[in-house]
Amino acid sequence: MTIPAAARPWTRDTTMNTEASPSPATPSAPVAPAYRGAGLDLRDLTLAYGEVDVVRSISLRVEPGTTTCVIGPSGSGKSTLLRGINRLHEPKSGDVLLDGASTLGQHPDQLRRKIGMVFQHFNLFPDHSALENVALSPWKVKRLSKKEAIDLARARLDEVGLRDRADHRPKDLSGGQQQRVAIARALAMEPQVMLFDEATSALDPELVNGVLNLMASLSRRGMTMVVVTHEMGFARRAANQVVFMDEGQVVETGTPEDIFDRPRSARLQRFLSEVL
Ligand SMILES: Nc1ncnc2c1ncn2[C@@H]1O[C@H](COP(=O)(O)OP(=O)(O)O)[C@@H](O)[C@H]1O
Ligand SMILES: [Mg+2]
Repeated sequence: MTIPAAARPWTRDTTMNTEASPSPATPSAPVAPAYRGAGLDLRDLTLAYGEVDVVRSISLRVEPGTTTCVIGPSGSGKSTLLRGINRLHEPKSGDVLLDGASTLGQHPDQLRRKIGMVFQHFNLFPDHSALENVALSPWKVKRLSKKEAIDLARARLDEVGLRDRADHRPKDLSGGQQQRVAIARALAMEPQVMLFDEATSALDPELVNGVLNLMASLSRRGMTMVVVTHEMGFARRAANQVVFMDEGQVVETGTPEDIFDRPRSARLQRFLSEVL
């Protein structure tokens, strides 16, 4: 199950990328931490649709500044779990702790400033430029002045390698560039945790690596990330921890080597044999 180097270019500067890699250009060089990711604890988290519990009593620790990849079959509750963490879906029971403090008493809008989310579909405002898409929340929600919000948005677009696309509308950007704008938009709120729900699943294959490279660079720079992904190569290379979910539960948690090289449960073995 070893993934050849050529198939995991996001760990290195590579010419396989058809889109410019976001800075830093050489991932192997030491990079100053730019983010202060928070620790995240899920305690017995249960989420339901009506009478049906689709996430069942999940407990999980995500250390500050680390990346946890969540894998598992379709319908296993991965998206619902992410939506529960930032309260797009109100938990039925259990708790979510940020740096040890319960978040359930917080207003969901407050919480979503601390926990950013990036979706499969980018959900950009079509009638606004890339710059405006990134500046809007800092201006409207964070109540920065318009100039401060624009300056911040420029810096964030720079960070995701899109300085020269600031004035483009979404329709004039590739899917990969749109997703990078969505990531810049989430970063503009200065989150302590970033959640990614299949952020590359809607992209044309040649655009996937540019976004994975950006995600790996956020991870190296100290962001705490929970990444639902079908990109097993990315999970193997970029994750500190991999979580395998099935039927609403965590079946196995471990290092990428534990999960991919030494799967214990029959369910994980079967899943890997289907996806690898
Ligand atoms: N809006 C909804 N209403 C009712 N059931 C839902 C809804 N969204 C998802 N589900 C169900 O919840 C379960 C988990 O779904 P989901 O979290 O989307 O899984 P995954 O992201 O792993 O594919 C599935 O059985 C799905 O059918
Ligand atoms: Mg999903």
